[in-house]
Amino acid sequence: MIKVGILTVSDKGFRGERKDTSGALIEEMVEGIDGKVERYTIVPDEEDMISKELIEMSDVYQLDLIFTTGGTGFSVRDVTPEATLKVIEKEALGIAEAMRFKSLQITPKAMLSRAVAGIRKKSLIINLPGSEKAVKECLEFILPALPHGIGILK
Ligand code: MTE
Repeated sequence: MIKVGILTVSDKGFRGERKDTSGALIEEMVEGIDGKVERYTIVPDEEDMISKELIEMSDVYQLDLIFTTGGTGFSVRDVTPEATLKVIEKEALGIAEAMRFKSLQITPKAMLSRAVAGIRKKSLIINLPGSEKAVKECLEFILPALPHGIGILK
């Protein structure tokens, strides 16, 4: 079993003005790699709150795999990659590259995601874009490779 955390980053989601369908989709899709969601939180697009929650999920809850969704684009409020880079110890460039590579075959707008991925202690942290469509496209491609990487990390 893979212990999963989902961190939805959205000002509107945090205020309860938008239903978090992307978080629900991640939960459903990780079942395919025997992933069980042990912590699921929503924070606004605030760098410190994102970093703090990622640290909590990694250090306190000791989750194997942590997905963020949202806040990877060009808006002034989009700071998820910056918050992630502050807490990871090693970058997993291949995962971010793979998502963009696959997504660019679907839409040129994929180049607008600044998503990063990396390792903090024994947790693999991966940024996903915010839309449900983008989450589905990215996860379909990367999920099959993740159990092997997580197995090495443990
Ligand atoms: N990736 C995939 N696979 N499919 C998409 O439709 N949309 C892009 C991109 N990545 C998209 C995608 C768009 S339009 C944007 S603006 C960026 O992700 C950033 O999204 P975010 O700000 O919600 O994180």
